[in-house]
Amino acid sequence: MRLGILTGGGDCPGLNALIRAAVVRTVRTYQGQMVGFEDGWLGLFKSRARDLDLPAIKGILPRGGTILGTSRTDPLREEGGVQAVKDALALHELDGLLVCGGDGTLSAADRLWEAGVPIIGIPKTIDNDVPETDYSFGFDTALCHVVDAVDALHTTAESHDRVIVLEVMGRSAGWIAVCGGLAGGADVVVTPERPTSVHEICNYIRHRQARGRFFSIVVVAEGARFEPDPDGRTLEVPQQMDQFGRPRYGGVGELLAREIEARLKTETRTVILGFVQRGGTPTPFDRLLGSRMGVAAVDLAVRGEYGRMVSLQGGRITSVELAVVRQGPRTVPAELFETARVFFG
Ligand code: F6P
Repeated sequence: MRLGILTGGGDCPGLNALIRAAVVRTVRTYQGQMVGFEDGWLGLFKSRARDLDLPAIKGILPRGGTILGTSRTDPLREEGGVQAVKDALALHELDGLLVCGGDGTLSAADRLWEAGVPIIGIPKTIDNDVPETDYSFGFDTALCHVVDAVDALHTTAESHDRVIVLEVMGRSAGWIAVCGGLAGGADVVVTPERPTSVHEICNYIRHRQARGRFFSIVVVAEGARFEPDPDGRTLEVPQQMDQFGRPRYGGVGELLAREIEARLKTETRTVILGFVQRGGTPTPFDRLLGSRMGVAAVDLAVRGEYGRMVSLQGGRITSVELAVVRQGPRTVPAELFETARVFFG
């Protein structure tokens, strides 16, 4: 058996654990071979491939990022993209392709599977928003960075009686903001799926001030949306696009901080955590999840169960149809947000 593997979209901690697990399972358990494509789908077009044998994966388990590199190239946006993927599989004599990514990469994988390419999907993203899996690896490590930041910001915000707005990642779903805010003890959390008004955010801060708590930590997801205030004013967040036609986020925290400061006359500062969230050493949870998913993906290929995505459900690794990615991002359930809200203000 010969399999290919690629990592696409934004990188995240745990990808190397996945690659290592897939190689070990293929080579040691099944005496097969693994070919790694570099920089996501780009590697298939440019024929940037390398054999992944056991020496190639030595020492990579604790390393963040991905030894294969990654990109946001979408094969279906390229002229002749589907055929190019099929040709690459034929050229490298592959039985199937393991595709590890978030919404963009897995959506492409789903459409390629429909076009007859034998593919198995593996969910990864720090945003934790892939449907039908309880967690995607990368999220737990990102959460640790966010909680470290909230802890650190507490001591300095308290010393200076400041409001600090911490902007975290999360385009369409506020998993990082809600879980990071809950675990770190944030005083308000603002997400894409539960729009809040600036008026309401200021009221939470006012309540704290009335209780003698003169500092506050506000965690805001980069894709946060806002409701109008009672007087009709709404925080407008200008939208920029990246070269792949996706919204480029970043900056909502500063806009919110300026509004809070103007309304409450309380010094308000902003911290954008940015790519720190995607970097560094994977936590044990992410290493475990990457390893379990890598083994399970190869097992699916061996059984010929293509067109499926490995998934974590209730603690068990299972698989679902790759088509689940058509559901769109998995948002934070109301119950979890309400739990976080118990601690607001
Ligand atoms: O991987 C998902 C993500 O972390 C989003 O939360 C974020 O908006 C995006 O990646 C930014 O990635 P890049 O700037 O590398 O495209």
